[in-house]
Amino acid sequence: MLTETDPIAPHGGVLVDRRVAQEEREERLKEAEGLPRVTLGARNISDLEMISTGVFSPLTGFMVKRDYDSVVEDMRLASGLPWSLPITLSANEQELNGVREGAEVALADANGRVVASMLVEEIYSYDKEREAREVYRTTEEKHPGVANLYKQGDLLLGGEITLLVEEPNTRPFPEQYYEPHELRAIFREKGWRRVVGFQTRNPVHRAHEYIQKSALETVDGLLLNPLVGETKADDIPAAVRMRSYKTLLERYYPKNRTVLAVFPAAMRYAGPREAVFHALCRKNYGCTHFIVGRDHAGVGSYYGTYDAQHIFNEFDQDELGITPLFFEHAFFCLNCGGMATTKTCPHDTDAHVFFSGTKVRGMLARGEYPPPEFSRPEVVEVLIEGLKQHKNNQ
Ligand code: ADX
Repeated sequence: MLTETDPIAPHGGVLVDRRVAQEEREERLKEAEGLPRVTLGARNISDLEMISTGVFSPLTGFMVKRDYDSVVEDMRLASGLPWSLPITLSANEQELNGVREGAEVALADANGRVVASMLVEEIYSYDKEREAREVYRTTEEKHPGVANLYKQGDLLLGGEITLLVEEPNTRPFPEQYYEPHELRAIFREKGWRRVVGFQTRNPVHRAHEYIQKSALETVDGLLLNPLVGETKADDIPAAVRMRSYKTLLERYYPKNRTVLAVFPAAMRYAGPREAVFHALCRKNYGCTHFIVGRDHAGVGSYYGTYDAQHIFNEFDQDELGITPLFFEHAFFCLNCGGMATTKTCPHDTDAHVFFSGTKVRGMLARGEYPPPEFSRPEVVEVLIEGLKQHKNNQ
């Protein structure tokens, strides 16, 4: 529960909880078994989990048209509250089988297990190209987020959801899994008034460590909050990354200033729009600050290096609530003899140790160590070993 001592309110003021009361669960599940059914994909299940536990506060369901249009066009819900990504449930006409506006439907996972119900307020058509253009800034199918969008059904179903099971998804990494109210309680217990959140879908390299620790110098605590939902196939698997985060924290981070918790969202690769979305979710977890570095949530060369920072100019600080902390591209400079950015280093780029994500992933897959100026050797060791095991298990 939010108390007066929480330093930051959830987005929209209240932490959403869309779980059915324990004593009604059995009966509601039985009722739902008899309803028309919509099957959810992995991303929808993740969204459902995030809506029902309040990570997506103030959303209480999948978006209805007025919210969808307003988010796509203006990065705001119909109420005017900032929200940058559509959270939608799609279906094709032939999948609707008895699903009607104004009636309840059961939401089932891919194995046919009913996990939630939804009061369908609206069934509406939408323009995928418009969404691609506005949200992803490209209509190219090569973009992984756009590719997913184009694969969706042609209709959207909007309405409030109610979670009918304890967990719609087996919780990944249960020891590092916290709902927003749990993380808020942890921050309270630690007495942290200023908490910086860090999003990542990659192993933590020296540049990440540098910007995290630079931020930590001015706040009370750091939430390392790696995304563990769906990512594209060539990203390093979450299980391998989790081991590397633990090793890094153990060796190089002060225990009493750091919390590791998973962010069970799917990656959209929407760059700037996703940076705002990432910040709002971390606000719900209780973070007061959020790090946005170079090409946040970007992919390929779809976004400018600092577009994900510039987009924050489109909002007033008051309406976002959480404070973004912007960082320049960071690197190890051989002449400075330490980590730096173009803001703090006068030397030529020849002296800067930099590898692209693609290059590093290739090196790790071949068992090659990037230099210690790029990545901590203990982290590299865990990654190489983990990737080897992952390959053998496939
Ligand atoms: S992301 O898709 O989750 O954004 P990544 O895990 O690489 O990708 O980035 C996590 C955060 O670190 C983002 O805020 C990103 O902008 C920032 N970041 C990554 N690499 C650098 C770097 N070399 N310099 C500055 N910021 C960086």
